[in-house]
Amino acid sequence: MYKPFYITTPIYYVNARPHLGHAYTTIVADVACRFHSIRGGETFFLTGTDEHGDKVVRSAKKEGLSPRTYVDQISGLFRSLWPELNIQYNYFIRTTDASHISIVEEIMQRIYDAGDIYFSEYEGLYCFGCERFYTERELVDGKCPDHETEPEIIKESNYFFKMSRYQSWLIDHIKNNPDFITPERYKNEVLSFLKEPLEDLCISRPKTRLKWGITLPFDENFVTYVWFDALLNYVSALGYPDGDLFKTYWPNARHVVGKDILKPHGIYWPVMLKAAGIPVYRQLHVHGYWNVDQSKMSKSIGNVVEPLQLKNVYGIDAFRFFLMRGMVFGLDSNFSEAALVKRINSDLANDLGNLFSRILTMAQKYFSGVVPEIDAKVERELELGLESEALKATTEFENHMETFAFHKALMAIWELISHMNKYIDLTTPWVLAKKKSSRKQLEVVIYNLLESLRIISGLIYPIMPDTAKTMQKHLGLDSEPFYHLETLKTWKSLAPGTKLLKSVALFPRIELKEDRTSLQTKRESGAGMPAIKPEITLDTFDKIDLRVATVIHAEAIPRAKKMLKLEVDLGEKKIIVAGISGSYSPEELVGRQVIVVANLKPAKLMGILSNGMLLATVEVDGCTIATLDKKVKPGTPIS
Ligand code: MSP
Repeated sequence: MYKPFYITTPIYYVNARPHLGHAYTTIVADVACRFHSIRGGETFFLTGTDEHGDKVVRSAKKEGLSPRTYVDQISGLFRSLWPELNIQYNYFIRTTDASHISIVEEIMQRIYDAGDIYFSEYEGLYCFGCERFYTERELVDGKCPDHETEPEIIKESNYFFKMSRYQSWLIDHIKNNPDFITPERYKNEVLSFLKEPLEDLCISRPKTRLKWGITLPFDENFVTYVWFDALLNYVSALGYPDGDLFKTYWPNARHVVGKDILKPHGIYWPVMLKAAGIPVYRQLHVHGYWNVDQSKMSKSIGNVVEPLQLKNVYGIDAFRFFLMRGMVFGLDSNFSEAALVKRINSDLANDLGNLFSRILTMAQKYFSGVVPEIDAKVERELELGLESEALKATTEFENHMETFAFHKALMAIWELISHMNKYIDLTTPWVLAKKKSSRKQLEVVIYNLLESLRIISGLIYPIMPDTAKTMQKHLGLDSEPFYHLETLKTWKSLAPGTKLLKSVALFPRIELKEDRTSLQTKRESGAGMPAIKPEITLDTFDKIDLRVATVIHAEAIPRAKKMLKLEVDLGEKKIIVAGISGSYSPEELVGRQVIVVANLKPAKLMGILSNGMLLATVEVDGCTIATLDKKVKPGTPIS
């Protein structure tokens, strides 16, 4: 029996729209939560928005809105994004919720009454971006390491939380619970920080400077420091102290955060819990940063990636898969659209997609789409280790998911895929199908392959829930939740006689031209279109010789699925290789007039010399060739 599992994301600031980084953390939490549920455990998944503080007030002002209207708007953006990314949270908390506010007041009062909060004057270096004071030691070249701006000196009277009192307790707690902060590098980072004396934390802001916050229950001239307010969301959302949810889920609480907020979660939060007499959370999982084209995502650089755009172009499961496979949890990773497309084509379209359709096609062809019965003796001869490979994949998957090593969990599945391909090569079902005497062998081979597909469909569920469901539907498993981990560990759960559906392409291959503009530039021009390229002069345009050509002959090129070899009349006959076969058959092109770049330097494509390029739009789901309004003489220039 697994303990009820509680997982949280950071509550996101409402001073910016949701981006790739927020999506990553939230998808990680969703994947971990779904994984726990396929093990049979109860789960509770919390996300939300952090709505108080200077930053919000300043952003609202910039938009000419009141803080209240502004936070409602941006919080709404987060809330409506998550279902689009197939994120199934249980509760969405906002720090402006009345229930949250009253719990913050209650806990603040308790810590105050216990004597852990005191009033004092303080002068320090304050970063408005981070909403916190910095020590000299923490600055890099005198600047805030996150915002790269010089902090301002601020002198005020404020309330302070005696964190120093809990320093040695925290060190012991971290040492006695080696997986309290994972991956290990972040545990070490916190321990190394704790080698220096821990300074007390300023936990109030005078109302003369900031009104948008929770008033201190013991002094109405101050509001609560935004981090003290925000961290408490993790318990207020569960109805602390008496709520059933709190009793059920808090003992196994896991927080997922990015490395930027390690300190508040690894130091302030456990100390706050300890001071308030609340048991400390179970685990903190810290991940690295997604950079874009090797630099930090930032509004000012203009390289902020919007998750919804990626989902709309590439599909939600491919996007989720890429994020989980493309980042080693804990380390930074670089995001690029080209890497995303490469991953989709190789792992999803080629490996998983091809294998799935290949096996279902064989099952249709040889067994009319019905899962075959198998003969135990023949089965032993032909098993060839597939059963143990499937079990190994499931065990490794489970172990890696448990430790948030998502990329390794996926690698374990892909190893099974590769074994299945080898199994097909070794057993050659198409040869077995030729002879009546090998019918029993064929039954075993196809059964084993279908059974392995069933296991894969269950394993991918936490990462790619829609694809898992499609696979299971085609395997005739739509009436039961076949992704429970126990069923995945039980070989031969697929019942002979089960009716299969015809094969489908799970992931279409995507053509990405080298020079394709990034999503970034597309967004800038609006409506999902690439931005207009930099200006050129007429002289430059004149260098391009555009001509009308009539297609005389067209044929497919073996081994190059998307390519067609065209013979065109351009005034003279020429051969052009065009990557349009996914959208046009050779027959429908013959006789049509197209526009070609006639003076493009010839290049060899798939071993054929191509003497020009045909003009067409290139979209994810295909292309459309440029044609003319009426017929003209072949070779006519276009100017
Ligand atoms: N409001 C605080 C959190 C309070 S939690 C009690 C906050 N909000 S935030 O909007 O700035 O979100 C920070 C989090 O967003 C990071 O910890 C991380 O989870 C995610 N990411 C933001 N940018 C990111 C990347 N470039 N890459 C990966 N995740 C990042 O901090």
